[in-house]
Amino acid sequence: MEAKKILEVAAIENGTVLDHLPSEKVLKIVEILALHRESRITLGMNLESKQLGKKGIIKIEGRDLTEEEMNKIAILAPEVTVNQIKNYEVIKKKKIVLREIEPNTLRCNNPNCITNAEPVSTKFHIIEKKPLKVRCYFCERSIEKEEMVFL
Ligand code: CTP
Ligand code: ZN
Repeated sequence: MEAKKILEVAAIENGTVLDHLPSEKVLKIVEILALHRESRITLGMNLESKQLGKKGIIKIEGRDLTEEEMNKIAILAPEVTVNQIKNYEVIKKKKIVLREIEPNTLRCNNPNCITNAEPVSTKFHIIEKKPLKVRCYFCERSIEKEEMVFL
């Protein structure tokens, strides 16, 4: 008989599995998307991964992610694999490609920027993809990945 593969974090019936996350981003993603408020979630950190050595995982029962949520995840974890699960099967598996930063996703860390003084939506251009670096459309301040603050 074929040996049964035991998952470290239990399989879900329906929903979304975010796989291949950097472990240190798991709690940050949960917090930014406020996943703990509504959704039934299970988390794994420092799990073994053949490709990465170690990885993190977030399993969200019962729902898909919105485009907006995907965008935020792509900023934090560009290597993520998003698996859509239906009746315990993976029905779709995709990598997220970050094309642009949606308005009002990040804060500009220039205290003199208009976006910190007036009710103006923040807007950033991507100037480098790996590691991610963006530039404020209004004041041209560039912001590196480690300094990014989500709104
Ligand atoms: N998964 C789950 N519940 C299911 C099916 C899958 O939680 N009912 C999870 C698995 O634990 C895994 C991810 O969804 O973390 C993707 O599943 P699968 O494609 O079967 O795993 P791998 O082949 O290891 O994925 P990859 O090739 O992307 O590493
Ligand atoms: Zn700015």
